[in-house]
Amino acid sequence: MGVEILYPLVYSFLITFLIAYYWKRRHLYIASFKIDGPISFPLIGNSYLFFGSSQEDVFSKSMEMIQSYSSTCRFWRGSQLLICIKNIKDIEKLLSSHKTTQKMYAYDLVKYSFGEGLFLSSGAVYRNSHRLIQPTFHHDVLETYIQLFKKNGDFLVESLRENVGKEAFDIFRKVNLCIIKNVVDTLMDTKMTPEITDELYFSLNRLYNIIHERLFKPWLHPEFIFKLTSIGKEERKSAKYLQNFIRNVIKSKKMELSLASDDSEYASNSKRRSTLDFLLRKLNENPNVMSEELLVDNISTIFLAAQDATSIQYSFAVLMFGMYPNFQDKIYEEIQKVLGQESTFTISDLNQLVYLDMFLNECLRLLPIPFIGRKVTEDLQFGN
Ligand code: HEM
Repeated sequence: MGVEILYPLVYSFLITFLIAYYWKRRHLYIASFKIDGPISFPLIGNSYLFFGSSQEDVFSKSMEMIQSYSSTCRFWRGSQLLICIKNIKDIEKLLSSHKTTQKMYAYDLVKYSFGEGLFLSSGAVYRNSHRLIQPTFHHDVLETYIQLFKKNGDFLVESLRENVGKEAFDIFRKVNLCIIKNVVDTLMDTKMTPEITDELYFSLNRLYNIIHERLFKPWLHPEFIFKLTSIGKEERKSAKYLQNFIRNVIKSKKMELSLASDDSEYASNSKRRSTLDFLLRKLNENPNVMSEELLVDNISTIFLAAQDATSIQYSFAVLMFGMYPNFQDKIYEEIQKVLGQESTFTISDLNQLVYLDMFLNECLRLLPIPFIGRKVTEDLQFGN
């Protein structure tokens, strides 16, 4: 008898809760009605479109669907509204708006590896890191890196030579090892053994594979579930490998800095200055500009962002050289004309490689980073 009385109470509570929930979110439903997209259902949204699909299928199906809409389209990921924009003017508006400084939910999946670094932070923390780090990417600083890029590029060419005339091979590994060397040299300027380079390569690739796998498995999204799984533990192990590597470099550089009797002595140890050296000097002048934890997060962030994007784009470019040998020949001729047999070159020499520049830009256009996501916290009008 007592339980029967409770039923209407529970039902009316549930119904009131649902009405309040949908009423609070009514602006989202009104907005979504105005945008094209597949039919969606309460609670599951459009997830039904991907039931039983593999990781690769989810990705290619999503891309095909977005392509099938001529402009803006929308999807419901359960109760979450995702709006995909392709129009360049809209993208410009989204990325320059102060209403969209936060990244979308998917970025939370890399929180453990990227921490509070530039990629995931927003507001004052972001502005502070940006202000400190941006000068380290000045043209004059980049100029001092050119010979390093040349040395590591020569290493790549030698390693590619081993495969000439042989069967197909995975270009990514060779490119990635070269880029890891470039990133370590310019970001931290520290000595690397082939074993450490290999360890970094395996840890970072495992880390990225896990991040991709998790992205397509929504049940692994909640942090408290993910960290209990075997791949969650592996993710932490791989991210920690990079963080500990960076911590050790910071420790030895701090020692070097404290042993140098003055700043110029530290600076003269190497005419070239890495991003980490710049930041450690700033911290030496004023320890309050950035905590050591944030420094580690920022160096890990730049490391992960630089080596992944550059290795992928570079591998695509090499693939394109192979697919379009006539373009490859033109690029080769241009390099011969501008650089000849010179063993050194400068940024202004590289600026003369106009055809190569066009080719690389075209690779970026045809094979871009697949998506950039932002969380919109206030209304933002696109088109009409
Ligand atoms: C071809 C090479 C590259 C491509 C295509 C590329 C692409 C991108 C894109 C699309 C973003 C925005 C991601 C988002 O907001 O969701 C980004 C952010 C970032 N990239 Fe790159 N990147 C490249 C090379 C590099 C290099 C060489 C570095 C460092 C030396 C780097 C460091 C970063 C950092 C720190 C961020 C986060 C910055 C912020 O949010 O303000 N990237 N990159």
